[in-house]
Amino acid sequence: MGCPAKKVIGGYAGSALMREPDHALSLIEATVKAVKIPVTVKMRLGWDEMSINAPEIASRAEAAGVQLITVHGRTRMQFYEGRANWDAIAAVRDAIRIPLIANGDVETVADAEEILRRSGADAVMVGRGCQGRPWHAGVLAGQDGPAASEIPNLVVEHYRAMLEHYGVEVGVRHARKHLGWYLERYAPGLAPDAKAAIMTSKNAEDVAKALEHSLAAALGPGARQEAA
Ligand SMILES: Cc1cc2nc3c(=O)[nH]c(=O)nc-3n(C[C@H](O)[C@H](O)[C@H](O)COP(=O)(O)O)c2cc1C
Repeated sequence: MGCPAKKVIGGYAGSALMREPDHALSLIEATVKAVKIPVTVKMRLGWDEMSINAPEIASRAEAAGVQLITVHGRTRMQFYEGRANWDAIAAVRDAIRIPLIANGDVETVADAEEILRRSGADAVMVGRGCQGRPWHAGVLAGQDGPAASEIPNLVVEHYRAMLEHYGVEVGVRHARKHLGWYLERYAPGLAPDAKAAIMTSKNAEDVAKALEHSLAAALGPGARQEAA
């Protein structure tokens, strides 16, 4: 119940469900009844600041058998604007006993500690902070990230694994968003036409070569970029 996108809420899905708590609960109850595995729910704070109802929906979800709740500390009307309200998540903590995960704008260990302190949540979920560095959750948990010199190979490995998993045609399309995130993070100075060539090519071998070349140039000796 977090997605704010127009094409999703037009179908009364995503965050639009927070405007229809009874309907949301009927879906949650049906899901809990239908499966043997634990059911978890993710939501925003509410539709807009006049209708913050995450605590009420979370409490009803708990009563319906849900075993964990995640809250992104924004309303739907905020989309991804402004800052997530970590304090407001605390009202959900007060409303439920099941584990709570806090989410929104966490990039660093200091952010993670702060969101836990302010929300009282049990754990943190990181979204955009992992774009272009899928190992970042591990880094926040204390593991080492890759050295800058390892990143070009890791990116190409990720790219090839996506093509293998999805097949070349679908894989190339799926891979684009990840390639965009990697290049934005590690090769922000890449010329627009070089980036466009990588993003639009259907030739996987060309893409792999250009990726490795662009990232190695940006991250090579002398480049002062942090891997983590
Ligand atoms: C490109 C993109 C795709 C997302 N897809 C999903 C999704 O499929 N399911 C979901 O629960 N949240 C999805 N989210 C929301 C994130 O899980 C998260 O709640 C939100 O981005 C706020 O956390 P962050 O500040 O750490 O990114 C998506 C967010 C972005 C930016």
